[in-house]
Amino acid sequence: MTTIAEQRFPGVPESAAAARRFVAGRVTETGLAHVAALVVDELACNAIRHSRSGWPGGTFTVCVEVAEAWLRIDVADQGGAGTPRVRQLSLDTDGGRGLSIVDALAAEWGVGSHRRGLLVWARCDGTPAPCGQPPAPTGAQVAVAP
Ligand SMILES: Nc1ncnc2c1ncn2[C@@H]1O[C@H](COP(=O)(O)OP(=O)(O)O)[C@@H](O)[C@H]1O
Ligand SMILES: [Mg+2]
Repeated sequence: MTTIAEQRFPGVPESAAAARRFVAGRVTETGLAHVAALVVDELACNAIRHSRSGWPGGTFTVCVEVAEAWLRIDVADQGGAGTPRVRQLSLDTDGGRGLSIVDALAAEWGVGSHRRGLLVWARCDGTPAPCGQPPAPTGAQVAVAP
């Protein structure tokens, strides 16, 4: 069974935190809440920064669909000049890595059209974890000196 929730936010920087809370609050069962918060943060910030959603009075809409071991996040904006794409940047370039992060975290992501804007979506897979806990680490632990 999946659950779906949707909410519209004003296109202002403060809405990134509201979108993170909205999504993370709905995915605790999957253990993917932290990943979901990162993904929606990037997509919401892009809607605000790169589309008319960030213009005065603009809005964007977040939809989150949650299943047992995966979730999908959609962010619909009000359209802009650019196209969402992973930028190829040198290691010396600051910024511009939001969609690279989404690409690394998501099993799959893409872009569609939505009314007069874009809908950027990402699907993340995970293993169910105890409520509110991040998934158990799978790699080697790194010791940190005191
Ligand atoms: N919602 C969007 N609408 C239009 N263009 C977008 C959108 N999201 C991302 N882009 C384009 O994709 C590029 C890469 O996005 P990103 O990796 O998040 O870097 P940044 O936002 O720092 O420029 C952006 O510079 C922009 O040109
Ligand atoms: Mg960005």
